[in-house]
Amino acid sequence: MPNSKKNPPPSDRGLKPKPISASRSEMAEVVLPAITNPLGKLLGGHVMHLVDIAAAMAASRHSNSYVVTASVDYIDFRNPISIGEFVILKSQVNRVFHTSMEIGVKVFSENALTGERKHTTTAYVTFVAIDAVTKRPKAVAPLILKTAEEKRRWREAGVRRKTRLALRYRKRREKD
Ligand SMILES: CC(C)(COP(=O)(O)OP(=O)(O)OC[C@H]1O[C@@H](n2cnc3c(N)ncnc32)[C@H](O)[C@@H]1OP(=O)(O)O)[C@@H](O)C(=O)NCCC(=O)NCCS
Repeated sequence: MPNSKKNPPPSDRGLKPKPISASRSEMAEVVLPAITNPLGKLLGGHVMHLVDIAAAMAASRHSNSYVVTASVDYIDFRNPISIGEFVILKSQVNRVFHTSMEIGVKVFSENALTGERKHTTTAYVTFVAIDAVTKRPKAVAPLILKTAEEKRRWREAGVRRKTRLALRYRKRREKD
């Protein structure tokens, strides 16, 4: 994975802004016995795996690049998903920084017999776009915000980044 600081990321000037809708992604899977615990509920680790893939799709769609997971800021399991149900994941870019993006993922269960949907998990994941040639982080197109909800998510992503960076610098200082 890239770690050299020799090639700084290119400027994002000139990149055409894209709406959040361009990154929206959805995926679905049936919950089968191989991915459940003894209580017949979908394994948390499998949900995390699906969250990573759904988030990568949104990040890749927005940036039209290869992307890598930089961090998982938050994951909250509110409700379990039972064997036989569908697990549905919806992802979108919440905010673009420079080479990194915060992706929000919402997970739902859907009962195959009644069609009832429940919100089960929320996660925020940071991805970095990687240049295919240099293998270094590359600048990402700015976001076009349209709705009040998109603006709220954008603001909240900024607060999470501030907290994450503060924690990172504190950990570095503790190491020195
Ligand atoms: C993420 C990674 C590309 C960053 O590379 P780097 O050389 O540290 O690059 P920089 O310091 O220039 O940071 C680049 C961007 O990544 C962000 N970043 C770096 N580490 C991060 C972390 N732990 N959490 C969130 N963002 C992070 C920086 O804030 C910066 O964002 P910005 O350009 O939007 O401001 C690199 O650390 C890496 O490859 N990590 C391993 C990724 C991986 O293997 N993921 C799992 C498999 S996909």
